[in-house]
Amino acid sequence: MAVEAIRKRRSVRKYEETPVSDEQLNQVLDAARYAASWANKQGWHILVVKDPGTRAKLSEALEGNPGGKAVGQAPVAIVVCMDPNESGSPNGKQYFMTDAGILMDHIMLEAADLGLGTVFIGFFDEDKVRPVLGVPDEFRIVGITPLGVPAKIPGERPRNELADIVHWEKW
Ligand SMILES: Cc1cc2nc3c(=O)[nH]c(=O)nc-3n(C[C@H](O)[C@H](O)[C@H](O)COP(=O)(O)O)c2cc1C
Repeated sequence: MAVEAIRKRRSVRKYEETPVSDEQLNQVLDAARYAASWANKQGWHILVVKDPGTRAKLSEALEGNPGGKAVGQAPVAIVVCMDPNESGSPNGKQYFMTDAGILMDHIMLEAADLGLGTVFIGFFDEDKVRPVLGVPDEFRIVGITPLGVPAKIPGERPRNELADIVHWEKW
């Protein structure tokens, strides 16, 4: 699955109202559980929001974000929250962002494999999102994605050539 899902995943910002089955949702959430994390801390907290009223408020809190409307359209929103203390910060590196990113990628790739769309929404005002979902202050809200049947699958976004990003042996 991995290579095929990696190649076909797109950031989807338009969705059908078609429901996502519990089986599919559980499959996506279960894939998240297998994500790597610093020292296997697994400091993830995943909020699953189906309620249309809550999704509408969440979408409002994301106003201006290109992915914001999709949270109101798709039948499910998944919100990834992290406790920075739980994840740790050795060597002055805050691992919660990395751990959340890997978790989100598992969610996005499993969804793509099932023919479902996602988009990592990372740009928002946490102070606006927090009260909508009742997230306690000690948790950072790192990412949000809608989950649903794509109404429109965008084309492939440009990617750098390997030669532009890979340094062999030395910088
Ligand atoms: C950490 C992160 C944050 C992102 N934040 C947003 C966002 O706030 N809104 C949005 O519409 N897309 C967001 N994206 C999606 C990117 O714009 C998208 O991945 C990129 O343009 C490449 O397109 P593709 O995912 O279809 O390959 C984010 C992606 C990442 C990895």
